[in-house]
Amino acid sequence: MSDLTYIDYLAKFGVGCAHPGGFILTQDILAKENIKQDSKILDVGCGTGRTAAYLYEQFKTNVVGLEIHPIMLEKAEKRFLSQQLPIQLVAGSVENIPFERNMYDFVLSESVLAFVNKPSALAEIYRVLKPGGKLIANEMTIESKLSEEEQTKIKQFYNVDSLLEEEDWEHLLNTAGFCNIEIYKGTHDGYAVPEYNLSPNLELELFNILSQHGHFLSLYQDILTYRLITCTK
Ligand SMILES: C[S@@+](CC[C@H](N)C(=O)[O-])C[C@H]1O[C@@H](n2cnc3c(N)ncnc32)[C@H](O)[C@@H]1O
Repeated sequence: MSDLTYIDYLAKFGVGCAHPGGFILTQDILAKENIKQDSKILDVGCGTGRTAAYLYEQFKTNVVGLEIHPIMLEKAEKRFLSQQLPIQLVAGSVENIPFERNMYDFVLSESVLAFVNKPSALAEIYRVLKPGGKLIANEMTIESKLSEEEQTKIKQFYNVDSLLEEEDWEHLLNTAGFCNIEIYKGTHDGYAVPEYNLSPNLELELFNILSQHGHFLSLYQDILTYRLITCTK
């Protein structure tokens, strides 16, 4: 049996803005924030770097991308180099962020917390945010409890340790010390052109993962959704 994961599929297909709502939602969310040229922004789990690149292009701000997957890192690095973007890219985990405390005005997490140890990651994000700094997240959320069997199937497929409802997110954010917690359902009517940056020699298993992902999305379209989250330190 293959041990390729959903994240490996995203990395090898080089999916840009691999989160619900895609690039259009990212642009909408960022437009509402008070991002200035001297803001310091950390994009945790930055993937192939599409959002980080946009942040620099749009706001000429200080952007750092943190990522753990070697193929994502390689594709993000190529993007920043080819577009000559002064974005620092760092290999590391959001569960153990390799930066000092109180460094960032914003931390962005687009569909990343769902895949990691959430209390550890939130504690780390809290630590590196400046006092008053803001976490902006877009994370997988379930609308209601599923059967044990269904939960297990979904958790195994996405390789996640838990499936959270809105109130679970709120509880975790409170426990991590965050204030001004706002959690809301996203609406995204816009259509963004998807972006792919394919690796050579894609394994057949990756197409099975893509197809299974599509199957889950349609089967659980009213239950397996996402929330937009903002909160401050
Ligand atoms: C669903 S993808 C989203 C990527 C990107 N934020 C985007 O919207 O395109 C999740 C990302 O989180 C990264 N990731 C998973 N665990 C991580 C960890 N412990 N630390 C940093 N990044 C991680 C994955 O490698 C992947 O790039």
